[in-house]
Amino acid sequence: MFEYKNNELYAEGVRVKNIVDNVGSPVYVYSKGHFKAQFEKFNKAFSREHVIAFAIKSNSNLAVIKTFASLGAGADIVSKGELFRAIKAGVDTSKIVFSGVAKRDDEIEYALENDIMMINVESEDELYNVNRVAEKLNKKARIAFRVNPDVDPKTHPYISTGLKKNKFGVPYEEAYDLYLKAKELKNIDVYGIQFHIGSQLLDTTPIYDASVRVADLMRRLTDKGVEFRVVDVGGGVGIVYDEKTDKEPDVNLYARQIEEAFRDFDVKLVLEPGRFLVGNGGILVSKVIYHKTNGQKNFLIIDAGMNDLLRPSLYKAYHKIAPMKKTGSKAIKCDIVGPICETGDFFARDYEIEDVPNGNFIVVFSAGAYGFTMASNYNSRPRPAEVLVSGDSYRVVRERESLEDLIKGEIL
Ligand code: LLP
Repeated sequence: MFEYKNNELYAEGVRVKNIVDNVGSPVYVYSKGHFKAQFEKFNKAFSREHVIAFAIKSNSNLAVIKTFASLGAGADIVSKGELFRAIKAGVDTSKIVFSGVAKRDDEIEYALENDIMMINVESEDELYNVNRVAEKLNKKARIAFRVNPDVDPKTHPYISTGLKKNKFGVPYEEAYDLYLKAKELKNIDVYGIQFHIGSQLLDTTPIYDASVRVADLMRRLTDKGVEFRVVDVGGGVGIVYDEKTDKEPDVNLYARQIEEAFRDFDVKLVLEPGRFLVGNGGILVSKVIYHKTNGQKNFLIIDAGMNDLLRPSLYKAYHKIAPMKKTGSKAIKCDIVGPICETGDFFARDYEIEDVPNGNFIVVFSAGAYGFTMASNYNSRPRPAEVLVSGDSYRVVRERESLEDLIKGEIL
């Protein structure tokens, strides 16, 4: 949905230049059409009853959440703040699942009061705590355990979550006993089982392997009278960042594998995709401020920084970068860096790009997931605006922060 026409980048039917001229830079631009197309592709892949719980940590703009909610999506949340957003955006709370290793009492209460689908419990301590909070509210909490199946998702170590050494979930070997304990608790309704092994998986086989392990555990527990109504297989389906090396996972195969692993169970499936739905539906547009050469290195210095898009700095993640308007000028090899006072503030290193004159714009692609949501105010930089394009029109769906926003709540 981001395409060059006559060497100028368009977001659907809108010339990106029109957006930066009116909204300024840096700016995140999202394509509603892409979001919808990805959702449909994912949704159509499953033939069994399922809920797509959009992982709103990947992009929590209200208008984006609303786009998915209106297509029938639920939400995967990890905090009270995300639940607040989901409710504001109109997500059906019966389609919301709550993960996270450190849920506080007030967060558990908020979830129970809003009657979400289930709380994904990540430890024995948490189980007893959820039971206690539910008792206080005179409710029964629907729960799943997040089981750590100990499979290697073969992705970046910082975004692997399903290995024994990771902090997430309850160990596979302990899950059996925990389910039996949970079954006895007065204010707990054992509702489902969940796992999530990692993110940006281009090969979904590890999810299948985890599914097989989890299905085996379920069989043993069913024999003990545990009734599962939901299986939540987490998120993690990757996207193409680098056309030269990445291949988009086959979601039809992914869906078939999951459905096959759980064929013996009469359960509703829950899927928690984030990146797959939004990653390639967003770009970050930034202005070239200066060129600079230090000895052998060229720097293209832009007005976006690691505070706006952290992924290259934090994970050395690759993002394709290109001029907003292609002029055919000579290619240069450069580091594309931001204004932040950190050596790690870069978008690309030794990157070949058609030279972009000062004052013109470059585009960082695949920025729709974990872009704005990981942005900060480091170096006292107001966070960028967000724009949602649909067809030939666009809307600012989050205003650029002002200087006053920066100091909101501070006391002299
Ligand atoms: N469900 C759970 C329990 C998760 O922890 C995550 C992501 C998801 C679903 C969604 O995963 P996805 O479908 O988006 O892969 N900041 C990192 C990614 C961190 C992912 C954390 N958990 C990045 O920029 O690559």
